[in-house]
Amino acid sequence: MGKISKLVDSIEKETLEEDKIPFTAPLSPEEDRILKNEEFPQITLTDVDPRLLVYHQPDSLVAEHFKILRSQILHPRTGLPARFILVTSAVPKEGKTYTAVSLAFSFARTTPTLLIEADLRKPSFSEKLGIKLDYGLSDYLAGERRELNSVVYKTDYHNLYILPAGKTRVEAKDLFSSESIIHFLEELRTKFPKHFFIFDSPPVLVASESISLSRLADGILFVVRYAFSDYEVVAEAVDKIGKSKLLGFVFNNYMPSSLGLFSPKLKYYRYAYKYKYYK
Ligand SMILES: Nc1ncnc2c1ncn2[C@@H]1O[C@H](COP(=O)(O)OP(=O)(O)OP(=O)(O)O)[C@@H](O)[C@H]1O
Ligand SMILES: [Mg+2]
Repeated sequence: MGKISKLVDSIEKETLEEDKIPFTAPLSPEEDRILKNEEFPQITLTDVDPRLLVYHQPDSLVAEHFKILRSQILHPRTGLPARFILVTSAVPKEGKTYTAVSLAFSFARTTPTLLIEADLRKPSFSEKLGIKLDYGLSDYLAGERRELNSVVYKTDYHNLYILPAGKTRVEAKDLFSSESIIHFLEELRTKFPKHFFIFDSPPVLVASESISLSRLADGILFVVRYAFSDYEVVAEAVDKIGKSKLLGFVFNNYMPSSLGLFSPKLKYYRYAYKYKYYK
């Protein structure tokens, strides 16, 4: 076996072991109360999109690759892990929501996680997660809902909380550049002191909200749908958000064998998988 595949196998083994470790960090009474769901309304996920394999097939290859991604984010080579993670891309339909939701399912298996639908223009959580919720982030930022517990929901999936987009509004972009977003982030850190926050967002070259959010994020995951966006387009978007907080790129729909660069036996690169559902 080659060196790279040995390395990949050892990372995968490590991340599999990690999944078995329960969340054991000591909790304050406030954190304990939050984790016992005493504050947030509960929802049951009953109709999750079958394409979300991390949820439906936790032992699948796709789920393994999200574990590796999770592990890389949770255990950075230097410094502390990014807690406020923005998932974005240059243009629409590159797989941001798919990546954000899959990553959140993967994170929640080991770490308390809040998944936030910050694409207020084109929300799709209801379709991907089969949930219909009346209020969410836009209502909180617009001041119509004042408490987090009126917009955040505890799901029945491990330690996963969800904050949906809420009502669609014309002034979506202004909500992210207002004072209320700063207050919102402070509230999140207070009410969810142990959680990781995964933000799904609109595409950088289409909506300025992602640029505002990138200024506030600790880390940015940039999704690139393979053979879809031009290099110049991706470079322009990365230029807009800056490189300093980039955690890395997620190559969605990547086809390594077509490039002939990697052995088809090399599991690590098969996150590249071609999936048949892309429309
Ligand atoms: N890796 C994948 N496997 C299976 N289906 C995928 C994958 N990535 C994306 N899709 C599907 O492709 C479509 C577009 O993906 P998604 O909605 O995540 O893109 P997006 O970047 O969030 O788009 P938008 O900019 O419109 O919000 C969806 O139907 C999604 O379920
Ligand atoms: Mg999306």
